[in-house]
Amino acid sequence: MIKQAIIPLAGLGTRLLPLTSVFAKELLPINGRPGVEYIIDECIDAGIKEIVFIISTKKLMIKKYFYSDQFYKNIIKKKKDPRIINEYKKILKYKNKIKFVFQNIPKGTGDAVLKTEKYIKNKYFLMLLPDDLIIRKNCSKSMIKVHKKYQASVMASMKVKKNNVSRWGIYKINKKLNKRNYVIDGVVEKPSVKKAPSNNAVIGRYILPRTIFKKIKSLKPGKGKEIHITDAIQLLINDKEKFIAHNFEGKYLDCGTMSGYINSSKEIGKI
Ligand code: G1P
Repeated sequence: MIKQAIIPLAGLGTRLLPLTSVFAKELLPINGRPGVEYIIDECIDAGIKEIVFIISTKKLMIKKYFYSDQFYKNIIKKKKDPRIINEYKKILKYKNKIKFVFQNIPKGTGDAVLKTEKYIKNKYFLMLLPDDLIIRKNCSKSMIKVHKKYQASVMASMKVKKNNVSRWGIYKINKKLNKRNYVIDGVVEKPSVKKAPSNNAVIGRYILPRTIFKKIKSLKPGKGKEIHITDAIQLLINDKEKFIAHNFEGKYLDCGTMSGYINSSKEIGKI
């Protein structure tokens, strides 16, 4: 059963400067809503009961967003605006599902995952990277189905342009299971065009086993001197953990770059 999800939110958001100099990128509006709400809705709709947010002291505004009870209560007392009452109810629903842990030094996604170790109870958990929005079809839900069927770890994936592989984690296929699912042989973080094993990229949705914590602890910093989840996944594959790449059906929106972020509001506005 996948009942817990984790979301790393401690990144500096340098690709979105100047918007992120004083503002958490995950709270930036996408078609009138903070981006992270789309990610939370995806989790809840996929049956997730508890979400662990990894934030930093620099991004306390994310916690504040969900803990503004007094602010809402004061306004609602004065003004019984049904829209505001509904917004407050929604925030409360989210808040009851979220726990916060801290990663104050941004040492990479792998390091962020490690901070959640004490909260993860089951054998497998879900991780969503908030820069990656997938709309029109719930990617986490589909991945949980794949996990149930094959009792394996799963990552979201899609083909990217060959000259763009150094932006992504890139994997090598071992065998095709069916139209959308492939067992993978190995994965490498942001390889050069020359060294890339393919142009199949990992997108920010992962179903990971608890055993990954031990692997992360054994890692030395990799690309860009960060601890990457990709490198821990490779260690698990070396140990014969089955990893499946799931080519999702929805539409991918890369909200971590300025052009992608701008485009995401247009795309979501069309739904
Ligand atoms: C991260 C991962 C990378 C993955 C990407 C998906 O990179 O390290 O393997 O392909 O997310 O968005 P980031 O976007 O944090 O640079």
